[in-house]
Amino acid sequence: MKLALFDAKQYDIETFEKHISDSFQIKFFEAKLNEDTVKLANGFDGVCIFVNDTANAKVIDALFETGVKFIALRCAGYNNVDVEYAYKKTHVFHVPAYSPYAVAEHTIAMLLTSVRRIHKAYNRTKDFNFSLNGLKGFDLHGKTMGVVGTGKIGKVFIDICNGFGLNVIAYDKYPQLNSGINYVQRLDTLFEKSDIISFHCPLNEDSFHLINKDSIDKLKKGVIILNTSRGAIIDSEALLDGIKERKIGAACLDVYEEESDIFYNDYSGHIIDDDTLARLITMPNVLVTSHQAYLTEEALNNIAEITVENIKEFENEGVCENELCYKCGQTESCKSQKCKKCF
Ligand code: NAI
Repeated sequence: MKLALFDAKQYDIETFEKHISDSFQIKFFEAKLNEDTVKLANGFDGVCIFVNDTANAKVIDALFETGVKFIALRCAGYNNVDVEYAYKKTHVFHVPAYSPYAVAEHTIAMLLTSVRRIHKAYNRTKDFNFSLNGLKGFDLHGKTMGVVGTGKIGKVFIDICNGFGLNVIAYDKYPQLNSGINYVQRLDTLFEKSDIISFHCPLNEDSFHLINKDSIDKLKKGVIILNTSRGAIIDSEALLDGIKERKIGAACLDVYEEESDIFYNDYSGHIIDDDTLARLITMPNVLVTSHQAYLTEEALNNIAEITVENIKEFENEGVCENELCYKCGQTESCKSQKCKKCF
């Protein structure tokens, strides 16, 4: 089994090397998979990709022509793969869950940092500045938290919020009955009532730019927006305008819609071309992390372990439990007879 792992970072190399056996040959490429780099996959059985690699129709065709049999996503989200187009060309597996705690805990870490100005206090005391001016925060207890998407991560996040005494309301396209979650029927209701809004839904046609000029009009003044899901759930220009107009009180962003050429790279000392991101970062009430929410020891180990298991299962049995359904794009919810998939 020869595997080409794209967008490889040192931490990927270390964890994958721990989990592969002798029957596995793995080559790590620093480059992201896209139309320009797909040639590197020549001679491999499969490719392993992450959130900012691209497997669009052209890339899938090129992989098919070179005989690549599968795309193993080492992440949960698969908005960067044209899953439908892959039908009969290549198999696509993903890692449906590796640590919902990692992402939920990072989200709350960003919120607390922002609300209690920890990032500013840290820099001040490093410089022996012990003044408290400008560091006033507010209690989370008793505030209303609106959670969009109540899957694996959303649920863990809700549990954490309950511990803080937040009043949690939630919206999900497919609400889970008898889960004890306090759902609202309409997303607009959540927008109107929430002091803080956190996104934990996947990026899809319905969730693209959920935060936009019109929806910002419906938000409470001073609302805090948390996005550790996918960047394009928020229209960044509209967010920036909302912040400039003082409508949005703060934003904590682990993801950004144009992140793919920027995040995970060291651009210190360089001029960033993306004016929207640069302007957002200059805002005192915006906190940006570089798609880091998943990055814990436990999550990295689970990612490597499950990715390798997916590939072995496919190699041995010709099917894989975590293969995405080409018709409905799901793994767990697709319940057709053969291999529990529509195809
Ligand atoms: P999940 O599949 O367990 O849950 C997603 C939930 O969102 C489901 O309940 C689904 O019904 C709901 N949903 C789908 N479309 C919706 C819509 N348009 N509006 C409202 N709800 C909708 O997924 P999980 O594991 O909780 O992950 C959620 C997302 O978190 C992933 O899709 C991914 O984009 C993001 N993520 C981010 C990471 C990071 O490092 N920042 C790491 C892992 C995941």
